[in-house]
Amino acid sequence: MKLHKSTPLRGEISVPGDKSISHRAVMFGSLAKGVTEVTNFLQGADCLSTISCFRQMGIEIENTPERILIHGKGLHGLSCPERILDVGNSGTTTRLMSGILAGQPFCCTVNGDESIQKRPMKRIMTPLSLMGADIGSLSGNGCAPLRIQGRPLKAIRYSSPVASAQVKSCVLLAGLYADGITSVTEPVLSRNHSELMLNYFGAQVTAQETADGATASILPDPVLEGRSVKVPGDISSAAYFIAAGLLVPGSQLLIRNVGINPTRAGILQVCQAMGGQITCLNETSESGEPTADLLVKHSSLRGTVVEGRLIPALIDELPMIAVMAAFAEGTTVIRDAAELKVKESDRIAVMVENLSRMGVRIEGTDDGMIIQGGAPVHGAEIDPHLDHRIAMSFAIAALAADGETRIKDADCVRISYPDFYRDLQSLQN
Ligand code: S3P
Repeated sequence: MKLHKSTPLRGEISVPGDKSISHRAVMFGSLAKGVTEVTNFLQGADCLSTISCFRQMGIEIENTPERILIHGKGLHGLSCPERILDVGNSGTTTRLMSGILAGQPFCCTVNGDESIQKRPMKRIMTPLSLMGADIGSLSGNGCAPLRIQGRPLKAIRYSSPVASAQVKSCVLLAGLYADGITSVTEPVLSRNHSELMLNYFGAQVTAQETADGATASILPDPVLEGRSVKVPGDISSAAYFIAAGLLVPGSQLLIRNVGINPTRAGILQVCQAMGGQITCLNETSESGEPTADLLVKHSSLRGTVVEGRLIPALIDELPMIAVMAAFAEGTTVIRDAAELKVKESDRIAVMVENLSRMGVRIEGTDDGMIIQGGAPVHGAEIDPHLDHRIAMSFAIAALAADGETRIKDADCVRISYPDFYRDLQSLQN
């Protein structure tokens, strides 16, 4: 993919459905009784992996461009898959589904691509083992492939060392099959889509925030009922257009129907702190998730500090924020974000590698990055290391940089946003 400095971006765009919510709709719909209808489902490779895994466990899922229909069989309706469950590149599928599998009356193996085979799974194996689950890493290194022999589980109160929605959701889902109330405390509240959607399907999940952290608790063995889910646009996908609108001189964009759940919307706060002009219009909610249209205008940006409690609310947007920082006046510091090292790629190392190639002064730290902004940025050869969010972040960097940028393996965006380049082009009048 070759990209160049852009003319002003103008017009309206609707980004695809939220990835986290799309995964959960398929999983919870499969465990519910009756039909779940999902509209604006994200047809990205990750969510298709979730569909294929649940189909392999006997769930009929009709997938059409307008909607998906999941013919759920209830909490105890999954059947033993005949083959290995292939999660592709999807950490969300791996970790959430493992929580469900830990409570099933069958044994199965879960595996995925090279990236998945490097991602840490001890963070779910530890709490699941405490619940009495039989789960092991077949490679012996704490990563996939995982072998899971399901069995009845014990309720626990788990204190998670990381603020991770995937760990929290895994434990809550295992809690559906436990012998009492299961609770998870995390140091800072991570995205709460599981809590909201499980309640929407009829489970009983309560949430509490104190100075020591955020706790979610779930009652076992609920009757989940099929529901209709309207998936809001993904703020993590909207982030690329927010950045493009802010960075490319003369731009004005309206991004329609974006999910602005506060546990996800940290990017808006950071852009505002950098001096970005973003206005939320038409705020409403869809299936319990708040949404808005975002009006974005080109702005002169300044550096900022991104840290602390905000990090989980923008974890997937940090590559895009690092790019914005390169074009902002002054220094930007990102800290408390060591989780970046264990995403689809090591996002600290990969951002340092590629922003350096564009002439940006950037230093990687143990838990983030320090970026000196404001100097000229030039096009370069970008290697996203097959990470969709890195590829999209640099496609936006290219629009504001001098000269040509070439992105290797650019089609890795299919993981979360198959039509990304087409949608971006539609705004370049
Ligand atoms: C996700 C949670 C986040 C995020 C990932 C999706 C989810 O991961 O980075 O892209 O859907 O629960 P962690 O919870 O591990 O931080």
